[in-house]
Amino acid sequence: MPYTQNRQFMKSEFAESVHKVSDQAKKVPYPPLQKPVPAGSLPLIDLPDPQGTPLKKPDLTTLLKDRQSWRKFTAESLSLEELSYLLFASQGLLAVIGDGYASRRTVPSAGARHPYETYLAVNRVEGLSPGTYRYLPLSHQLLLLEETDKLPGLLTAANLGQKFVGKAAVTFSWSCIPYRAEWRYMDHSHKNMLLDAGHICQNLYLAATALGLGTCAVGAYDQAAMDAIFELDGEDEYTVYLAPVGKI
Ligand SMILES: Cc1cc2nc3c(=O)[nH]c(=O)nc-3n(C[C@H](O)[C@H](O)[C@H](O)COP(=O)(O)O)c2cc1C
Repeated sequence: MPYTQNRQFMKSEFAESVHKVSDQAKKVPYPPLQKPVPAGSLPLIDLPDPQGTPLKKPDLTTLLKDRQSWRKFTAESLSLEELSYLLFASQGLLAVIGDGYASRRTVPSAGARHPYETYLAVNRVEGLSPGTYRYLPLSHQLLLLEETDKLPGLLTAANLGQKFVGKAAVTFSWSCIPYRAEWRYMDHSHKNMLLDAGHICQNLYLAATALGLGTCAVGAYDQAAMDAIFELDGEDEYTVYLAPVGKI
């Protein structure tokens, strides 16, 4: 039968791994909750407090009914307040657990490992230069990676010609650092890491709907081209999922 070779990957392998010993059990130090900020980085950018952001649609039932994928955006900019709320909803920190081996966020994650980093490709956000950024959930700040006005073309090409990605005000791109989950769950962490990504994007959909903005999950992209936009090594960190956001 065609197309069946990856099916095993979707099945749970927890029972088979009971005899293996994880790095956590071997007392290997835990990996950092957040990718470190490189020495010599530009000053970090403070984001507005997301608590109290006015919502156009505050009612959950309305949000569930109105959520949909949007592929047409206006040329308007997002405010920094809107961006801050979207980041809080999709990856915001609620608490650091214990001595820092895990965290609680606004989304669930298997074993509270939270193996994703959030990158932003900014075309139009008030107060931010066009360019690439990384979200720092521990301090709710942004790290500027590179100022560039080339993102519309790069994003459209990296998303297999899907022009709405290049035209969005900002694109959220989630990369996975697999060792954060492998440290605890070994070979059976990978299925759960993909499940984690779904929760992140669903919260982005709901938050965007609440703010009157549009977004669309994107899984059809060129792996090497997306990784290159954010200078990911493609082995210990790589793009898994993305979502352009704009005004509608
Ligand atoms: C995992 C995943 C990958 C997706 N990839 C794409 C994509 O690459 N391009 C696109 O236009 N839509 C993509 N979508 C959006 C779906 O097409 C959309 O959710 C579906 O048509 C249902 O429409 P709705 O979200 O408005 O209910 C993706 C959705 C998911 C959940």
